[in-house]
Amino acid sequence: MTSSQPQARFLMCRPAHFAVTYAINPWMDPENWARNDHALGAAAWQEWAALHQTLCELGAAIELVPPVQGLPDLVFTANAAVVLDRTALLARFRHPERQPEEPHFDAAFRALQAHGILDAVRTLPDGLVLEGAGDCVWDDARNLFWMGYGRRSDVHARDAVEATFGVEVIPLELVDPRFYHLDTALSAMPRGELVYFPGAFTAAARAAILKRVDPADRIELTAEDACRLSANAVVLDDTIVLPGCGRRLRAELEQRGYCVRETPLGAFLHSGGAAFCLTLRLDARSHVESRLVRSSHRRLPQAQARS
Ligand code: ARG
Repeated sequence: MTSSQPQARFLMCRPAHFAVTYAINPWMDPENWARNDHALGAAAWQEWAALHQTLCELGAAIELVPPVQGLPDLVFTANAAVVLDRTALLARFRHPERQPEEPHFDAAFRALQAHGILDAVRTLPDGLVLEGAGDCVWDDARNLFWMGYGRRSDVHARDAVEATFGVEVIPLELVDPRFYHLDTALSAMPRGELVYFPGAFTAAARAAILKRVDPADRIELTAEDACRLSANAVVLDDTIVLPGCGRRLRAELEQRGYCVRETPLGAFLHSGGAAFCLTLRLDARSHVESRLVRSSHRRLPQAQARS
């Protein structure tokens, strides 16, 4: 973090009750987990602590949701809400297994509001499902949300997100059950690159991506990188924190000026989640106005701009 930048802030939840006790995506195999639950539980603690430590070293502040027994997926705080401009839009979950998380996340966001970290906490219209930032990835460079739907979230949630935040939302239909949340297959980088796995999307969704992302900014993942959830990354300034990646992807990201930090998250991969899923950015800001100001500055002749 450079001193001129405001401190990044994330919401996380210690994996005190993390386990795989049900299956709501193809990564999850409760019987397999149960055969090795002590070792996997210990690995989860250690991996989560390393991720937490990495984000702290990078200068981030971390807020914590208290873990709750019987809610193993509460650790995936990316699913708690969509947060932008100090406003949180609380998630609603598709599966009954995760629905009991909703009141706990609700309480956590009310507490963040009470502590002055957020200004507003909103709820979705009745009947709509939207699994938070897991399906609503903020693209800072384009000032828009990419929204995944078709497996967990409803396409109609788009209107609620646009109405809440007043920014454009691009819906992308997901087709591969392994990539059930958008954040498992797409990451928007601060300088405008989009890292994504084309195989996760319908032809129409891929076309929507091609329309908005210049060829030079597209970083397409191989199936191998996609399956180690390389797209499930936390990006802080120039550093990309991800659960693992192949040599080619690392080289490509480094060539573009990013520093790649691999932090193994194998225990969480058993649940279908990794770095992005385990965090929720609380300080993202839209910046239509600052962009307009910046671009009008660029248009000024130099002498004028300096005066
Ligand atoms: N087991 C969890 C589920 O299926 C994993 C969620 C991972 N979170 C994410 N944002 N992709 O819901």
